[in-house]
Amino acid sequence: MQTFSQKVNPEIEKFLESDPVKMYIGGRWTAADDGDTFQVLDPGTGKPIARVASGKASDIDRAVKAARTAFLKTGWSSIPANDRAVILHRLADLMEGQQETLARLESLDVGKPLAQAEGFDIPDAIRTLRYYADLSVHTRRREPIAISGFEASTIRVPYGVCGFIFPWNFPLLLLGWNISPALAAGNTVVVKPAEDTPHSTLYFCKLAEKAGIPPGVINVVSGFGETAGAALASHPGIQRMSFTGSPEVGRLIAEACGKNLVPVKLELGGKGAAVVFDDVDVDAAAKALTAAITLNSGQVCCTATRWIIQDKIMPRFIEQAVQNLKDVETGIGYGGDPKTKMGPVVSEKQRKRVLDYLNRGEKEGAKTLLEGGEANVEDHEGGFYVKPALLTGSIENVCAREEIFGPVAYVIPFEDEQQAIEMVNYSHYGLANSVWSSDLNRANRVAESLVAGNSWINTHNIFKQGIPYAGCNLSGIGGGVLGPETLLDYLRPQSIVRPLSRA
Ligand code: NAI
Ligand code: MG
Repeated sequence: MQTFSQKVNPEIEKFLESDPVKMYIGGRWTAADDGDTFQVLDPGTGKPIARVASGKASDIDRAVKAARTAFLKTGWSSIPANDRAVILHRLADLMEGQQETLARLESLDVGKPLAQAEGFDIPDAIRTLRYYADLSVHTRRREPIAISGFEASTIRVPYGVCGFIFPWNFPLLLLGWNISPALAAGNTVVVKPAEDTPHSTLYFCKLAEKAGIPPGVINVVSGFGETAGAALASHPGIQRMSFTGSPEVGRLIAEACGKNLVPVKLELGGKGAAVVFDDVDVDAAAKALTAAITLNSGQVCCTATRWIIQDKIMPRFIEQAVQNLKDVETGIGYGGDPKTKMGPVVSEKQRKRVLDYLNRGEKEGAKTLLEGGEANVEDHEGGFYVKPALLTGSIENVCAREEIFGPVAYVIPFEDEQQAIEMVNYSHYGLANSVWSSDLNRANRVAESLVAGNSWINTHNIFKQGIPYAGCNLSGIGGGVLGPETLLDYLRPQSIVRPLSRA
């Protein structure tokens, strides 16, 4: 048995004991066809957690076929929505019962503070599952169309097999956000979790099994992007595809889906801005934005990374922000340690990316207000820790333009409203921004002028089931997640028409 820096419960010990951890295809726990495995590391120590089956194209093919068979034969797609909802609520109940296990697995894989996984990631995944289970019961699947001379209606039916590829920043939360509407609508799914963070998704399958979800309805193939991921996105047997991750890979997914004419949903990155006017409580705004940029060690696609501050309050804002970031710096630590305010980033690769951006930003002339860089945590020397950083300078700087995905904020002063709007919209991304002002008319006006899927006012990073969350431009296509319409994205409309008979 392994020894963990993090306390793990007996449920996790049992789950990880099956070294290597197997994939879940067609209701069976299975090794990869070629027997290959890969090592998953604890980002807080750099040490191995477990070996996991490394799926390839033939495993994806098995999973897609299992999902197809389940779609046609298990009744999942044809039973009343209510019956499916009952089973999905049962799954949500089981997730609630194992909330601690799921949260610990998430903290172990991602490095995030356990309190965050327990207080947000896991409950939010459960809330989303319940939301779509309920919504699906009340979704009309047969709507008559009033048209002269014909009896016509639109029916809505599930598509079939839906593919999902997820990133490593919020593994279970994104699983919940994305597969819940697909399942509630009656589809079957094949999931490829990120190679850095497969455990909570695989453990979720144990609960799905217990809940009585028929074999083949949920399939998870662990493995790498270039092999398992690419094979899933280009498989001719899928009817829909969804990807969350970087724009570079998003393009590859869209290309593969384009070739097969498979509809695709892309949730890509962001370079979110916060516009702070001079009529705010400066200390409170600085505190909120500091919390945003250090949440999940900055690995949040919609977080506030560009702080656009009205010039009059700039000095005071910077002073406060630096003080707050330094305070977080004193709380950098292991995810499983209750004192930890900010954990490591997910991998050495990600740490290097963040540090490279700091170097490039400086080379392009950014001024450092708070020096970031590698952080060392006592007794956790091998962990992938980075310090928060604050930069300022031109809006053209690489650190002001590109997604860094680390605890690095970039502050820029503005003079008037119009200039602030232009600065925000200078980005090619379009996921989320916020406006901070005590003048709510102005805040609304500015919020509506920002080109992005989400504008928050006097807050940032708000996600609620029922409020659509989507990106535009480089941030994504295909309608997003969390909205009521998302359920309809997983139901194919079909018109049924016959001449009117008066008999
Ligand atoms: P990535 O986009 O490469 O990985 C996301 C998922 O895509 C993983 O499951 C991966 O296995 C899969 N994947 C990779 N290459 C693939 C391919 N050719 N075909 C199919 N699937 C493939 O993200 P990465 O490299 O881990 O992170 C790089 C940057 O991407 C981050 O620094 C961040 O800026 C951005 N990112 C954005 C996320 C978001 O939530 N929007 C999440 C993760 C990363
Ligand atoms: Mg990549």
